[in-house]
Amino acid sequence: MQEPSSPAATLAADPTVELARDVAEGLARRPKQVPAKYLYDALGSRLFEAICELPWYTITRGECALLSAHAEAIMRGPGACDTVVELGCGSGAKLSMLLSAVEGRPTDVHLVDISETALAQSVQALSRHRGALLTTHQAAYEAGLGAALQRAGGAGRALVLFLGSNIGNLSSEEADRFLSEIRSRCRPGDRLLLGADLVKPEAALVAAYDDPLGVTAAFNRNLLVRLNRELDADFDLDLFEHRVLWNAGASRIEVHLESLADQLVCVRGAGCCVDVAEGERIWTESVYKYEPEGIVALGARAGFARRAQWIEPESRFALTLFEREP
Ligand code: TRP
Repeated sequence: MQEPSSPAATLAADPTVELARDVAEGLARRPKQVPAKYLYDALGSRLFEAICELPWYTITRGECALLSAHAEAIMRGPGACDTVVELGCGSGAKLSMLLSAVEGRPTDVHLVDISETALAQSVQALSRHRGALLTTHQAAYEAGLGAALQRAGGAGRALVLFLGSNIGNLSSEEADRFLSEIRSRCRPGDRLLLGADLVKPEAALVAAYDDPLGVTAAFNRNLLVRLNRELDADFDLDLFEHRVLWNAGASRIEVHLESLADQLVCVRGAGCCVDVAEGERIWTESVYKYEPEGIVALGARAGFARRAQWIEPESRFALTLFEREP
């Protein structure tokens, strides 16, 4: 029998209520903003997959080249791991490249993602690997990691994967906090494989987030389509433009939706109407780019020592393997 739940608990668990609250809060800020996680509705997720195929977006290709070249070094050799946890497993394709290096060896594999679709897709992609024992955690990273690393005592190491330059979507303080959180859930000897995109010439960085085909613009502007649909908002798509800026001082790409006119926008489902001035921007994502030493320093601040770092020269993407210090 289901437990009776209080109205407050029901409300808090309703994703539309959370969206409404976040949007009302974000649009009241200066500058206006909407959390990036809302870019990924069904269409947004499809558009992001298309972005990964674009010649100007090199993150996915660069990282896959490194994973395939160094799978043996990561998965075998001294200190090999018998537990693997991927935070944000996506389609499972990257983990599959690593598991190919230990085909047949018993490995506990934990997949953490908030998307049910991503988990199902990953299970399908990974079930062909002999020896891999799959467990899924439909949860945010921290909660999923906690559940995944509740191992019985004894020997055995864990490898935590945080790929796709997802670290780049965190500010420096958030990244420090996140890696410390990972470290606190690990045991000495456990490892962390971190994928991070590197600083490159401005034109290349901007083209990756403002591609000539307009796919990334569609991905960004789809956020307004989603708010119109799910929150009964009246964003005029013709009056918002995709705008991408490289902030060299902060070493980040900033992704915005810029208003082409003075306008009033109402978001009925969030109970708010806001004035938007011509040229004013709604901030939708920040993407931090690293230098190789900056990644090593980030790990060190959290208590992880570098074991190896590989750089894909064409895309300028880095894969860094860390080990938790005692
Ligand atoms: N945040 C991811 C990245 O850093 C995904 C992404 C690609 C993205 N293009 C985007 C997010 C454009 C917002 C807008 O690459």
